[in-house]
Amino acid sequence: MNNITLAPVQPDQPSHLMPVFGRQPISFVRGRGSYLYTEDGTEYLDALTGIAVCGLGHAHPVIAEAIAEQAATLIHTSNIYEVPWQTAAAQKLAEVSGMEEIFFSNSGAESNEGAIKIARKFGFLQGIAHPKIIVADRSFHGRTMATLAATGNKKIQEGFGPLVEGFIRVPFGDIEAIEEAAIHHPDIVAILVEPIQGEGGVNTAPQGFSYLEEIRQICNQHNWLMMLDEVQTGNGRTGKYFAYQHTNIIPDVLTTAKGLGNGFPIGAVMTQGRGVGVLTAGNHGSTYSGTALGSRVVYTVIDLMQKENIVANAAEIGSYLVDQLRTQLADQNVIVRGFGMMIGIELPKACSELVEIARDEYHLIINVTAGNVVRLLPTLNMTHEQADDLLKRLVPAIKNFLAV
Ligand SMILES: Cc1ncc(COP(=O)(O)O)c(C=O)c1O
Repeated sequence: MNNITLAPVQPDQPSHLMPVFGRQPISFVRGRGSYLYTEDGTEYLDALTGIAVCGLGHAHPVIAEAIAEQAATLIHTSNIYEVPWQTAAAQKLAEVSGMEEIFFSNSGAESNEGAIKIARKFGFLQGIAHPKIIVADRSFHGRTMATLAATGNKKIQEGFGPLVEGFIRVPFGDIEAIEEAAIHHPDIVAILVEPIQGEGGVNTAPQGFSYLEEIRQICNQHNWLMMLDEVQTGNGRTGKYFAYQHTNIIPDVLTTAKGLGNGFPIGAVMTQGRGVGVLTAGNHGSTYSGTALGSRVVYTVIDLMQKENIVANAAEIGSYLVDQLRTQLADQNVIVRGFGMMIGIELPKACSELVEIARDEYHLIINVTAGNVVRLLPTLNMTHEQADDLLKRLVPAIKNFLAV
């Protein structure tokens, strides 16, 4: 074994890293399940899991073993050959999603790039020269050129013009606005939305998941592709394998990443229905698409989720957490929103400092999004005991914060 020990990063140490991240002054050197540890052994309850990534917890022994074994056997060949683990991972993912064709990517943004390419090619095949995609206000689809243009946040787009064109923006949840767009733009080919807007503040549409059913109907009516971004909501996060499974519909194009590899960087863009057959040989690719190592991780994650009934656990513990938060914070003027282990607590005031307070005073890792929404994305296999531990830290942190 190569036992290299790194010296802890000092706050004033010069860095060669591009300063694109606002980093907190803490680093974790080890994790186990729902907990993270600093160099000195201090334990933190991780209610964020790398932003909806490590759903099965940190350093999961079965996943660690699969990675180690595959790394010592074969990491990567190329997609100019058959990759048996890729075929097996696609089979598993098709089983849990109901999708038919799968392309493995390396991130959420890259999965959405694939979806945008599918929509454009879908238009091209019908002779539409300038195909347009409907996207929502306050959406987040990634940081690449096309996905930042699709994203409904001006701050993310600022400085990167000219933006990729071909997106029509409507308010999230507003079906009339979509129908209105259909009247004015005969060249629309697809709608791309998140079932729950994660970065936007853990928002479902005002009409809940029936928004997705309404979109499905409009897409059928106009021969558009229904495309769902489940980068954050997928892989069991909301108490179903994918969030659209809270309804009876299925999208034509589905993207995911984050929890798909439990921390190993891998994503997927999937098609069924009218999305099938749009991309053909030579239309898309990536050197790292579905490496033997990445694919084995996906296979192992899905296999574990199935064998250990993890999605049902996420639904159960998630609704316990939401009920408890509503009860324990009943007198605090907060709104608790949640599906499975994707929970947002909207506070009556901006609360970005709560991240630091929770971390330093309660050893609890959380995130704040949309300025005043505490976002919880805990492990999907969390126990009741750990959920109580989370509440024991979070509830007083919020109460004390709101008291001043
Ligand atoms: C809904 C959604 N789409 C896309 C992305 C981008 O994923 P990645 O950061 O892996 O590119 C994210 C990341 O937060 C996301 O939440």
